[in-house]
Amino acid sequence: MGVDEPVLDLREARVWTAQGAQLLRAPGVSWAARRGEHWAVIGPNGAGKSTLLSLAAATRHPSAGAVSVLGRRLGRTNLWALREEIGTVDAASTVPAWLSVEGAVLTGATGTVQPLWDRYGVAERARARELLALLGCAHLAGREVGTCSQGERQRVRIARALMPAPALLLLDEPATGLDLPAREALLGALAELAAARPDLATVTVAHHLEDLSSATTHALLLRDGAVVAMGPATETLADGPISACFELPVRVTRQDGRWSARAAAGWRAVRPAPDGAALAPAMATTRATGSPVTDGTSPVTDGTSPASDGMREGDTKR
Ligand SMILES: Nc1ncnc2c1ncn2[C@@H]1O[C@H](COP(=O)(O)OP(=O)(O)OP(=O)(O)O)[C@@H](O)[C@H]1O
Ligand SMILES: [Mg+2]
Repeated sequence: MGVDEPVLDLREARVWTAQGAQLLRAPGVSWAARRGEHWAVIGPNGAGKSTLLSLAAATRHPSAGAVSVLGRRLGRTNLWALREEIGTVDAASTVPAWLSVEGAVLTGATGTVQPLWDRYGVAERARARELLALLGCAHLAGREVGTCSQGERQRVRIARALMPAPALLLLDEPATGLDLPAREALLGALAELAAARPDLATVTVAHHLEDLSSATTHALLLRDGAVVAMGPATETLADGPISACFELPVRVTRQDGRWSARAAAGWRAVRPAPDGAALAPAMATTRATGSPVTDGTSPVTDGTSPASDGMREGDTKR
């Protein structure tokens, strides 16, 4: 792919299931992410964030529209080969608990869950250690994965995903379930990674703005399977777009390069009125309206994908 070509290029990408459920609805997602950009994908539960990430990970085809990843068009390229060039970090993924941390990172070189020791030479081992150092985990190299904390494991997963030197790193809720020090260590590592690898593009799905690293350059806000806003983080991670995205009056602040969000003072949760109509607090939103799609008969493929890549036990090759 050319240097200026987007790492991710989606044109009116839509996803629906064979049953007609609209996961990414009309008009679809049109989005380009380039080298050196660090995107946050934000939205409420069920907004379609993981669905969008599965397109970027080449684990799912769009039902309509066009998706190119690393310059290759889904549907016209070998997805298995393409996936080997994409780093994915999924909290659900696991490597065998008995594996050493270094061994777990090495499995990233072969895209396997079980280590293929004869395939790892001096260069691979040096790279694994270098990545562990970059993620602040050098001291864990000899430890069994099963003895690592959640936060440590998450950083090990990122080091593993970086083994094949991917141009694109995808992270689905990397900070979820981490305590404050573990989250801060993770976000610090991601910021250092961005500085150390200026060509790398990342996409991070998050529920909370507090879970975004200071390296975040852009954001895409999703709601109900449609884009609410996208663009530079400084414009998108702001009161108006975030309030529209969550249908809640939100105050966004940024300090030391990090974001935080909270409901505006005086806000009260929506409660049902006696006649069944919702009583919502007064707020102005700019919610994007995706036109409902009623034709559940047209899909040829529902895009239901092979299981997501990762380090699930029992897998031998991703
Ligand atoms: N096979 C399916 N059939 C019907 N609906 C589905 C199917 N797969 C996903 N969905 C629905 O599509 C919507 C989007 O799912 P997705 O996992 O992309 O959301 P998300 O934004 O990642 O949510 P979360 O924040 O909870 O992880 C959800 O409402 C989900 O229930
Ligand atoms: Mg999700």
